[in-house]
Amino acid sequence: MTKKIVVVGTSRGIGKALVDLFAQNEHHEILALGRNLGKMKSNFEQYSNVTCKDLDLSRSDVREACEEVFQDLNRIDILVNNAGFLVNKPFDQLTHHDLTESYQVNVIGVMETVQAALPKMTESHIVNISTIGGFQGSVKFPGLTAYSTSKAALCSYTELFAEEFKETYIKMNCLCLGAAQTEMLEAAFPGYQAPVSAEKMAEYIADFALKGHQWMNGKIIPVSLSTP
Ligand SMILES: NC(=O)c1ccc[n+]([C@@H]2O[C@H](COP(=O)([O-])OP(=O)(O)OC[C@H]3O[C@@H](n4cnc5c(N)ncnc54)[C@H](OP(=O)(O)O)[C@@H]3O)[C@@H](O)[C@H]2O)c1
Repeated sequence: MTKKIVVVGTSRGIGKALVDLFAQNEHHEILALGRNLGKMKSNFEQYSNVTCKDLDLSRSDVREACEEVFQDLNRIDILVNNAGFLVNKPFDQLTHHDLTESYQVNVIGVMETVQAALPKMTESHIVNISTIGGFQGSVKFPGLTAYSTSKAALCSYTELFAEEFKETYIKMNCLCLGAAQTEMLEAAFPGYQAPVSAEKMAEYIADFALKGHQWMNGKIIPVSLSTP
């Protein structure tokens, strides 16, 4: 059956790899979103089942922007909230903008994307992409306060959404990723070599997005080779 899939944050890294994977199945129709339209169009020009549209989660009117972007879709089966903003700075140097941008892109922008998507959803799976650093009890790293606390809020949001929508067929889960080799990882841990590529991480996420809601709702799942 055709799946209508929306992925946010697809210019590079895991989001780009996700669209590449979904696009392999000609029955899937994918809407690739992000703020770098030129890059996305050149990433996905070879796929007839991928449409690219502009969406910047740092705007104050994400809900309205998404309503416009979703206009041509009659339904959304899968929404992957993959876009993320990371600032790596000692806590006492974080500016007001660093804090608000982190929460705007990683939390508020995601919530408003979901608000706009809801009227298009009946039996749907929303997958939020968080980090292992936002998972309670995991190892924490200096410099990532704005990023990891905002991703922890995304985890909490997942549980609250699932409670509020438990009588529906709209399911939401949250994946807390460990290190995957991308530009964001390089910004967080310069020089560190991740054990997993963006493509390999995308394989897990794509499979989970297609099937995970058959078994789970409101779950916060660590996807990481590190312990704890
Ligand atoms: N890589 C890791 O080790 C790792 C670990 C844990 C969690 N994660 C999470 O996994 C997700 C993907 O990360 P990644 O490593 O692939 O990062 P990445 O290579 O930095 O890619 C991030 C993507 O998000 C987009 N984005 C950033 N700000 C945006 C905004 N305001 N509006 C719309 N799109 C925006 C970027 O687009 P632009 O090109 O426009 O900047 C880019 O396409 C993120 O949510 C991240 O927090 C990654």
